[in-house]
Amino acid sequence: VLPKGVYKDASVDLTAAPGLGALRPTIVATAPIPGQKPGTSGLRKKVVEFQSPHYLNNFVQAVFNALVDFGTDVTLGGSLVVGGDGRYFNPEAIQIITKMAVANGVKRILIAKDGLLSTPAASAVIRERGPAWQKAFGAFILSASHNPGGPSEDFGIKYNIENGGPAPEKVTNAMYSYTTTLTSYKIAPDFPDVDTSKLGSTRVVSADGSRGVVVTVFDGLEGHVKLLKTIFDFEAIQTLMQRPDFSLVYDSMSGVQGPYAHKVFVEELGAATTCLLNAEPKDDFGGGHADPNLTYAHDLIHVMGVDSKGNAVAAKEGVLIPSFGAAADGDADRNMILGRQFFVTPSDSLAIIVAHADVIPFFRDQGGLRGVARSMPTSGAVDLVAKRMNMSLFETPTGWKFFGNLMDSREMGGANYTPFICGEESFGTGSDHVREKDGMWAVLAWLSILAHYNQDPKKALVSVESIVREHWRTYGRNYYVRYDYEGVDKSRAEAMVGHMTSSFAAVTGQRLAGGYTVAVADEFQYVDPVDGSVSSHQGVRYLFTDGSRVIFRLSGTAGSGATVRMYLEKYEADRSKLGSHPLEALGVLVQVALELSDLEKFTGRKEPTVIT
Ligand code: G6P
Ligand code: ZN
Repeated sequence: VLPKGVYKDASVDLTAAPGLGALRPTIVATAPIPGQKPGTSGLRKKVVEFQSPHYLNNFVQAVFNALVDFGTDVTLGGSLVVGGDGRYFNPEAIQIITKMAVANGVKRILIAKDGLLSTPAASAVIRERGPAWQKAFGAFILSASHNPGGPSEDFGIKYNIENGGPAPEKVTNAMYSYTTTLTSYKIAPDFPDVDTSKLGSTRVVSADGSRGVVVTVFDGLEGHVKLLKTIFDFEAIQTLMQRPDFSLVYDSMSGVQGPYAHKVFVEELGAATTCLLNAEPKDDFGGGHADPNLTYAHDLIHVMGVDSKGNAVAAKEGVLIPSFGAAADGDADRNMILGRQFFVTPSDSLAIIVAHADVIPFFRDQGGLRGVARSMPTSGAVDLVAKRMNMSLFETPTGWKFFGNLMDSREMGGANYTPFICGEESFGTGSDHVREKDGMWAVLAWLSILAHYNQDPKKALVSVESIVREHWRTYGRNYYVRYDYEGVDKSRAEAMVGHMTSSFAAVTGQRLAGGYTVAVADEFQYVDPVDGSVSSHQGVRYLFTDGSRVIFRLSGTAGSGATVRMYLEKYEADRSKLGSHPLEALGVLVQVALELSDLEKFTGRKEPTVIT
């Protein structure tokens, strides 16, 4: 429950006009705008496109129409949450959505202060229980996640449903279908602009008194931080942070996470503000690319003594490299974890968190972790942990939304899969405390693990690196690397996929460079074990006889053109071969992958844009 006084209604009548006054809806004629199909995570386009007449309005109306079809009656009194990552065009979009929500019959609108609401915090706010008339039925999240922001960059909008998770595909398909047939939308043009800088509630009543709408500007930090405090042992983490040999640095990359990081690390855990990098949200993310990886989180990797390939860089004389570093993306659902001069791959991070779930009170108190899920391209490191610890393991397509059904299954009276941890190679990790991945959660999970190993102040610090190396010694190492080819011509990328899918039979059984032999070549298809829905064409897979894998996918989040992703994985059980660099261990497999896809011929690219 959010703090008192935030949700409380103050009665301020803003209108004295006749009839519905400020609540008067108008119907604006429009025409379908092509290309409004939500991708992996909502609709993302250039800001200028969103600023063009009716563009945002059409999409928002399509969402309201689809909600009606799926049984969400927004006029019943539940709340609509609105907030975003603070990127350019957020303030304008908030006002438009508010006026359209009013016209579509929404009676309670919860807007985050200054419009700032991280994606996991939005999920937490929706999930806050409360009386039905007040509980949120969903949220508009205004974010294009890690895509660059600013007037000439990307804007994005996505809708999350009442379980706190992204709308499932059947709902986003319905939204899209409405965008192709829409002829009008509803908006209340006279509804007063909301001052999002002031906390509190305003009740706007129609002139004839027949209707009222309550707009509440709430603190976007409070609910989420409160939730995190019920999950983790903050005292134990604080003890770790007080060790003289431990230090932390956190890079919010000028996205929405800055204020959350200040609250958690400085106000709750007692760290100095100097441990925060880029902690002030900027509407263009400071001109950077707010994506926590080895290419874009340059400030952090520099401080942590790691280069863009994940290699250790020697510290300058007299400079102490922090023991722990982490970063978030624009909307704070992603995370990157670093130790001193050491990069933890997201796939390893997931496996290690799962292996240590019992050090986190949330899991320990619920009788231990029961299930884990990873997206198909994520490495199999977590599979080994799940097997040894006897947990259910699920392999889903890329996209956090696929985890939602699994996490909800207990609540829906289905199999006892929860409590649950999920993760993706794309720097996403989280659990069933919300229905989004959660950048802060992942960092607190790592700090909990470090706190667990470092309880004795007289013993030398057990480092991130030593925890990872110990994990490899126990389970073997899944060497893993991802190559991204950004801004590829879309039709060429599709032709490349076509080339691969049409030659599956031909390559099966073939012995390629380094002796790699294709055991299975196919396209990944997912049948949701909860509702039976089928998702096809979720990535081209080459599975080799030695257990190695090569996967190709076209990104579902690319702003313009196509991004080809190539994922490579090789398992090494030999304890004497755990210390190689992934690019070395996977060198031959890269050649095999390039050969199988004919990538250079199709895309014209010799080198990837990003390696993670
Ligand atoms: C978003 C989604 C993730 C997904 C990622 C990569 O961050 O929330 O669930 O893994 O995009 O998607 P892409 O289609 O670009 O590989
Ligand atoms: Zn994100």
